[in-house]
Amino acid sequence: MSAARAARPRAAAASPPSVHAPVPGAAPANAPLVAPAPGAVPANPPAPAKTPRAALRALTGALLLAACAPGPRPATTGAGPRPSPDEERFVSALVGKMTLEEKIGQLTQSPAWGGADVPMNDSVAAEVRAGRVGSFLGIPWPQRQRELQRTVMEESRLKIPLMFAHDVIHGFRTIFPVPLAEAASWDPDMVQRDARIAADEATASGIHWTFAPMVDIARDPRWGRIVEGSGEDPFLGSVMAAARVRGFQGPGLGTDSTMMATAKHFVAYGAAEGGRDYNTADISERTLREVYLPPFHAAVRAGVASVMPSFNEIAGVPMHANAGLIDGVLRREWGWDGIVVSDWGGVQELIAHGVATGPEHAAMLGILSGVDVDMASGTYRAGLPDAVRSGRVPMAVVDQSVRRVLRAKYRLGLFRDPFRYLDPDREDRRARPTPAHRAAARQAARQSIVLLKNDGGTLPLAKDVGTLAVIGALATDARSALGSWAAVGRESETVTVLDGIREAVSRRTRVLAADGVPLDKDDDSGIPEAVRVARRADAVVLVLGETAEMSGEAHSRSTLDLPGRQLELARAVVATGRPVVVVLMNGRPLAIPWLAANVPAILETWFLGTETGHAVADVLFGDYNPTGKLPITFPRAVGQVPIYYAHKNTGRPPVDAERYTSKYLDLPSTPLYPFGYGLSYTAFAYDSVRVGAERIGPTDSVVVSVDVRNRGDRPGRELVQLYIQDEVASVTRPVKELRGFRRTGVLLPDQRERVAFTLHPDDLAFTDAAGRRVVEPGFFKVFLGGSSADVRQARFEVVAAAAGTTKKK
Ligand code: NOJ
Repeated sequence: MSAARAARPRAAAASPPSVHAPVPGAAPANAPLVAPAPGAVPANPPAPAKTPRAALRALTGALLLAACAPGPRPATTGAGPRPSPDEERFVSALVGKMTLEEKIGQLTQSPAWGGADVPMNDSVAAEVRAGRVGSFLGIPWPQRQRELQRTVMEESRLKIPLMFAHDVIHGFRTIFPVPLAEAASWDPDMVQRDARIAADEATASGIHWTFAPMVDIARDPRWGRIVEGSGEDPFLGSVMAAARVRGFQGPGLGTDSTMMATAKHFVAYGAAEGGRDYNTADISERTLREVYLPPFHAAVRAGVASVMPSFNEIAGVPMHANAGLIDGVLRREWGWDGIVVSDWGGVQELIAHGVATGPEHAAMLGILSGVDVDMASGTYRAGLPDAVRSGRVPMAVVDQSVRRVLRAKYRLGLFRDPFRYLDPDREDRRARPTPAHRAAARQAARQSIVLLKNDGGTLPLAKDVGTLAVIGALATDARSALGSWAAVGRESETVTVLDGIREAVSRRTRVLAADGVPLDKDDDSGIPEAVRVARRADAVVLVLGETAEMSGEAHSRSTLDLPGRQLELARAVVATGRPVVVVLMNGRPLAIPWLAANVPAILETWFLGTETGHAVADVLFGDYNPTGKLPITFPRAVGQVPIYYAHKNTGRPPVDAERYTSKYLDLPSTPLYPFGYGLSYTAFAYDSVRVGAERIGPTDSVVVSVDVRNRGDRPGRELVQLYIQDEVASVTRPVKELRGFRRTGVLLPDQRERVAFTLHPDDLAFTDAAGRRVVEPGFFKVFLGGSSADVRQARFEVVAAAAGTTKKK
């Protein structure tokens, strides 16, 4: 036990404050985490208050959040360390010179007005000249940015440089796998490197600020934006969030290839009812704190420079007016002081939500809740002047937001050199898919592929298989291969599945192709031709799934079935009796029970980006032995949704033979493929789990380990996953919670490796009913294995420190 006893500082006693702790001068104890919706603007607004929270309370009488750390507001900022004295002097002097209109300009982000070839028009030029815009989004074209920056630097009064923002989500010109796919790699170092490359290319094209990473936990695959996140699990999601922030921002905002990152969408956007985009989320504070907030907290700890609120409301409060969560949790409890940038039109939408009477009211709610920058709606421009003049919004609140924007510009070095991101030579060398960038994209793509099924060693295919049929419209669809946020990625630079296969096979192999059926309509006229092609082949690669446009923003679906007549196509091709390998391309888990039962081999390839075809061929022909594991559960049918591994036990866990237990009449309660699942061309055996100590104190750590052996006949690597369960606690706990993962080295046949993890007190802690983060005495299960549903387990006990007695059995 001694080796395992290295206690960490973050033990129970030092853990975060209770969510019910009183905030001096703010909300009363036991106020809810989610503040009630602010009411209408009172007829006689009270005198301006000093802070946004006080102002909002004074105006609305709303209860604010009590979940903040007591004491002074911490002075760290998301964008880096405390502001330096020079920076503060500079920013203060500048703010002192600004008119209200110029201040609101800094809080206004304008959208692009046209394409790369459309020069700035007169009205845009006039806005820029007047200092009515602080940043632009969606202009990834250096020649247009130069025009704008020149106008502001030569023709505006205060010459405050513009920032250019863009959605650089999974690559800029070199496109990496979509985030859900990269999460399947379970490789944060790789994810960080890919974000770094994206930042390198984007900053060489003038971009200062990306709206990524999207860190929304999502457990409903109907929701189209599931493709943009890291899946269902807060632990994995937090690791990936931090990795992407580090990657985008690099060594610090002062370096030449750094790009401000944005953790979005704050918060619980993925909990939209019915999986319908933009819909209401109504969830408990516990779920918010245990599931949806952790990846944001991880991004904040990694120094994220900005955060974007989400379009949804939570318990009646739209997030763009949610002072409790933005000003309360994000700023006060977590001590973060970066820029909160609204989502597109999010401030204006407070009117449609029904909490604001018009632009002035919406602007007031937005800025008083902590939203610094208004993206695209012009609501701050329209509403803030009157709100400030009438005293409803104190000037100090506007100044605080302006300071955040100016600090970011200062840290990016734009006051020193407004054109530092616009160096044509750098653009030429770096804003393109260099061989090194492509090699990284290929590696990322192969690591993101998950082998779902491989009966009888169907895969890998031999490169000299004879005649190979490649069937399916997606096999040649470069646009879909690029995925949902392709930035300036080009189809012409993308390797499709068919291209990749053609390049990989030996000269003796003939590749035949057929489109099969379209994905967006009920048209089965291509099936006979596909069957003819399949009959002439020795093996068939059948590419099925969704186009890239079927997931992403505003692209929710009510079913998880293969769209169009693809299932009929699959049945017809399988009926030929040829060996069939299904290659799935999709942005969400699909319900594929028929394929799972009837096709011998299935690869999940998501949308893999620029190097799609090479990576798919690497895996199909065995040049790469798959290592990916699902970051999200695959249901059997949409009716099981939401289905996730970290569920609660209920009082009546499902038992097949017992009627009154928690299950369906017409489906098993288990998923088709569980979280963490993924096969290899070899197989691994797990020995018993070892636990370093049978009993530990609540501030102790414990080492758990397992021996993993390659029991197959090829070299391979396994991703070992560590889960825990608090068996009995004062509030219900999930049946399993991921607490670690580690990849073995390459194991040769019969080779074994011991994989060890240290569980720290924080890994065992949860928030109790009184809002304290605690490790409760009692038994814990620890599970180690290659998937959430295939584990070996052991137990240990946490005993109360002093008495050495246990509270529970
Ligand atoms: C709306 C999306 O919700 C958000 O994720 C994105 O960053 C903005 N549009 C800007 O494109």
